[in-house]
Amino acid sequence: MQTLRLTVEAGNPESRASRAAIARAAEILRAGGMVAFPTETVYGLGANALDAAAVGRIFGAKERPRWDPLIVHIGEAAMLEQVAAEVSEDARRLMDAFWPGPLTLLLPKHPGVPESVTAGLEKVGARMPAHPVAHALLVAAGVPVAAPSANRFGRISPTTAAHVAEDLDGRIDAILDGGETTHGVESTVVDVREGECVIYRPGMITLEQLRSVCRGDVKFRTELEESEAAAPAPGMGVRHYAPRARLVLVEGFPPGLHVALIDEVNRLEEAGEMVGVMAPEGFKAALMAMRKKPFDPRGFTMGYDTVHVYPWGSWEKPEELAQKLYAGLRWLDAAGVTAIVCPLPEPVGIGAAVRDRLLRAGSREEFGV
Ligand code: TXA
Ligand code: MG
Repeated sequence: MQTLRLTVEAGNPESRASRAAIARAAEILRAGGMVAFPTETVYGLGANALDAAAVGRIFGAKERPRWDPLIVHIGEAAMLEQVAAEVSEDARRLMDAFWPGPLTLLLPKHPGVPESVTAGLEKVGARMPAHPVAHALLVAAGVPVAAPSANRFGRISPTTAAHVAEDLDGRIDAILDGGETTHGVESTVVDVREGECVIYRPGMITLEQLRSVCRGDVKFRTELEESEAAAPAPGMGVRHYAPRARLVLVEGFPPGLHVALIDEVNRLEEAGEMVGVMAPEGFKAALMAMRKKPFDPRGFTMGYDTVHVYPWGSWEKPEELAQKLYAGLRWLDAAGVTAIVCPLPEPVGIGAAVRDRLLRAGSREEFGV
C-alpha cells in the first residue's frame, strides 16, 4: 500500500492547507483506514475505534499481539458516551483536572466498543489529547479513534513523522505530519477504582499531580498486593520501547554520574563495541578528559571509531529528558552503534516515566506475556 503524506503547516493548524490535510485524514479514518497523527506525547496510529475491521488492521500494521489493548482517543467530552459505559465521580474529577491532556483513564467499556480494542478486558483506556492537530482530526472524524503509538510493536515510540515512516511506511494509509511532538513520552495510564487510583503506566501526568486531585490513595501497580501486582497485565514486564543496540543502563546519581558513564564507555570500547551515549549536559567535556582511547579531533559524532554522543539535555530537567528520549535512541541506532550507555533518572515526577521506559527498553525479557 502507498502511504499518503499529509502535512499540517508548522504553527498554523488553521491555515487552508492544514485544514485540507486534516479533513483528508479524517475522511480516511471514517472510511475504515489507518492514519498516523501527532499527539502531545508521541505519534499515534489511528483507526475508527468502533469498527472492528479497522481496529484489526492496526494490529496487523504494527505486528502487535492481540493481548495488548489500545487507547481510545476522543475529541470532545460528548464522544465519551460511545466509549465508556459509566463514568464515576472520581474519574470525572481527573478528567476535569487533566483533559485535554496526557492522561489515559481505564473506564468500564461501552458494549459498542469491539472486544479487540480492550483485548477482552472489561475496562477501556480513554484519553482526550491536547495537541491541536489531534484535536482537530478527532473532531473532524467524528468517531472515537483507537490509537497505539505509531511504531512497530516493541520498538521505540515515534516523536516525528519521519520516525513513523521508518517503521510503518507502506503499511498504513496516511501519515499526518504535524511536526515534533511536545512531551515525547506517553500518557499516564490510570485505573480509577473505588477509593483509590492505580497507575498502570507512569507518564507525563505525575504521581504528585494525581495525588493533588484524587480523593483516595494513589499508587503504582507494582505497589499493589503481591497477588495482583504479579498478575500479567497488558504492556507490562516485556521488552518494549527498545533500540536495536544493546542498552547499558547506569544509575544516574550526581556528582559521580559522568565518571560512571565514562567507565562504561571505556569498558565497552575495550570489548570492541561501537558505543553511543545518551549524554547529560556537560558530559562531552568530561569524556574528553577521561576517555581511554585517544580523542578523535574530527568530533564525537563523525567518522569511524568515535563515541557517538547524543546531547540529551539537562539532568535537572526531566521534561527535557522525556522530550528527547526516543529521538535520541533512534538517532544512536541510526548511527550504527552496538551499545548505548544511558543514565537512569530517579523515579520522581516525570523522571518516573523516563526511568520506566528505559528499564523496559533494557529488559532482556522478549515479547509475550
Ligand atoms: O500517549 C499515549 O498514550 C500514546 C498516544 C498515541 O496517545 N498512546 C500509546 O498507546 O502509548 P500504546 O498502545 O502504545 O500503549 C497503550 C498501553 C498498553 O500497552 C497498555 O499498557 C495500556 O496502555 N492500556 C491500554 N488499554 C488498557 C486497558 N484496557 N487495560 C489496561 N491497560 C491498558
Ligand atoms: Mg506503544
